[in-house]
Amino acid sequence: MPRKILVTSALPYANGAIHLGHLVEYIQTDIWVRFQKMAGNECWYVCADDTHGTPIMLRAEKEGITPEQLIARVHGEHARDFSGFLVAFDNYHTTHSQETRDCANDIYLKLRAAGLIETRTIEQYFDPVKQLFLPDRFIKGECPKCNAKDQYGDNCEVCGAAYAPTDLINPYSAVSGAKPELRSSEHYFFKLSDPRCEAFLRQYTSRDNGVLQPEAANKMQEWLGAPGENKLTDWDISRDAPYFGFEIPDAPGKYFYVWLDAPIGYMGSFKNLCGKQGLDFDEFWKPDAQTELYHFIGKDILYFHALFWPAELAHAGYRTPTKIFAHGFLTVDGAKMSKSRGTFITAESFLSTGLNPEWLRYYYAAKLSASMEDIDLNLDDFVARVNSDLVGKYVNIASRSAGFIAKRFNGQLAPADENLPALKAIQDAAGRIGELYEAREFAKAMREIMLLTDAANQYVDSVKPWELAKQEGKEVELHAACSNALNLFRLLTVLLKPILPVVAGKVEKFMNIAPLAWSDSQSLLAAGHAINAYEHLMTRVDPKLIEKLVEANRESLAPAPEAQSPQRHAEHQQKEIKPEVAGNLCTIDDFMKVDLRIARIANAEHVEGADKLVRLTLDVGEEKTRNVFAGIKAAYDPAQLVGRLTVMVANLAPRKMKFGLSEGMVLAASDTDGKTPGIFLLAPDAGAQPGMRVK
Ligand code: MSP
Ligand code: ZN
Repeated sequence: MPRKILVTSALPYANGAIHLGHLVEYIQTDIWVRFQKMAGNECWYVCADDTHGTPIMLRAEKEGITPEQLIARVHGEHARDFSGFLVAFDNYHTTHSQETRDCANDIYLKLRAAGLIETRTIEQYFDPVKQLFLPDRFIKGECPKCNAKDQYGDNCEVCGAAYAPTDLINPYSAVSGAKPELRSSEHYFFKLSDPRCEAFLRQYTSRDNGVLQPEAANKMQEWLGAPGENKLTDWDISRDAPYFGFEIPDAPGKYFYVWLDAPIGYMGSFKNLCGKQGLDFDEFWKPDAQTELYHFIGKDILYFHALFWPAELAHAGYRTPTKIFAHGFLTVDGAKMSKSRGTFITAESFLSTGLNPEWLRYYYAAKLSASMEDIDLNLDDFVARVNSDLVGKYVNIASRSAGFIAKRFNGQLAPADENLPALKAIQDAAGRIGELYEAREFAKAMREIMLLTDAANQYVDSVKPWELAKQEGKEVELHAACSNALNLFRLLTVLLKPILPVVAGKVEKFMNIAPLAWSDSQSLLAAGHAINAYEHLMTRVDPKLIEKLVEANRESLAPAPEAQSPQRHAEHQQKEIKPEVAGNLCTIDDFMKVDLRIARIANAEHVEGADKLVRLTLDVGEEKTRNVFAGIKAAYDPAQLVGRLTVMVANLAPRKMKFGLSEGMVLAASDTDGKTPGIFLLAPDAGAQPGMRVK
């Protein structure tokens, strides 16, 4: 029975450009969705622009247009960028829609009927010039702790203190510069502290319930407090006019706070899709739904998705999310994206510089896991990895064999050798790789696929079609070699298709085959199958393009005049100044690039013909063990190493050695002046487990 699945990515704000940070999420989700579709499941992927709130209202005003005009323009830009990166939503809607308004009113009225809405009068800063209540981020002043000037109303960027806007010394409005006044007004609250919400959330977010990743579940327990100590506070869901959003039913002049209607935008977008596709909305949203619902989000918006949103749904008579998948943040070259360094890279600039979106899709896939750890886009590594894996290994198999089939065999294939180990290996691995896709362990999946690709290349290297082609009377061998190679290539294409949809489409065309599904990983092409002319599949990354890209995104340190607006400030926060690095010091960023992990020596053996090396098989908590050659033979007998824990560099670029591939390095001490001879392997204290990060 195919599963029925509804998937969302977070709704991007309608007042900024899509950048490579955003794309971590949309590419991750898109890969997962494409895998589900290939596997034969019914899977719907919806998203929308998040269009409401004060920043959008003010930005439109500054540009001299209406908020409706602003969000219409940005909707076009976002849709263009997503399609440019092959993110294939089934629907890309907007929260400023009738469907979202209807769903928001419905949820609000049901929560009110359940006694979970309350009004309270609160005091807030008001801008007397602009005539509007100011969100915390639009109030600035002196930090009450360290007296740093020009700090935001919620926390200080200099000393890190968190406080209320009313604690600021000499506060001013970031919009008009005016001194804000305290005014009171009636606000609507969702009673998250209600015992019903607490009881529901304790169960829903518990580790055992499995909705959240373990790290996220732990965070939730902190936010909930120990049992008996309810730390949840009621949530202010209203804002006063002027505000760009939905007016609250029976509350003239009061609007839903943007974060109230934003997740409801998932429903709104799906409702809109139901209208177009004739789907049954209730089948996906009723309380006992048999369908699955998944939200992909960044770790920064976990509070909204794991607490407010499920509590609202549960008490308004809807189903709750099956799972919430949070990912970490993107860094570029080990640091936060920065406009001054040119690493705050927009999606649009990436494409217009002429870089191929599938390069980035592959690179992100090679880095992504199911955890909430941040991921780093290292620009040099990006070039090296794409060129070596995609062009040097994968495409190479087809480009070395397709031509001979066309020229020498009329485009027709010989039967594949079903017992060829490289072919069988792929067929055997497909199930496991499918499980890795399902579990969002894309990096592990890519590693497995590249090992299979290596084996396929070794086969081609061993039969050498280019030499067979020069020899008389080797027709049969040449035909078999190229047919086997193309079958290998077809199977690898199945495995990579969720990542590389365009390349897969070209392969389907030149191989003259129907769109590949996951189950095609078990079949081979029939003898006599005719292929079309080989089509060029992918070029190498030219490092010059990367330089161009960074240049195109570099902004001078002097803020542009328009940078005075609050949103621009929010982005400028990303600016970081690299500490001066003198002599042989390194920065913390440099250090953090080295991924040190606890490794268990699963096996150790002598290497025939090597007088210094021991071959180590290391378990670093991954599905696959690592093969590492260590120069420690003089100090250690392999037998005494087995079972020991040590520390390895897990992200060292693999190195081809005379004796095989070395996939990392273990750490050992030795003196430099030879006074204390010996090599001393590092070992962690008791309790460390394979795979733990060392830092
Ligand atoms: N509008 C809210 C989400 C509402 S969902 C009902 C929002 N928008 S956003 O544009 O700021 O971010 C959209 C998504 O992109 C979020 O999940 C966010 O975590 C993610 N990312 C934004 N910058 C990111 C990085 N630098 N790295 C990884 N993901 C990032 O939040
Ligand atoms: Zn401070």
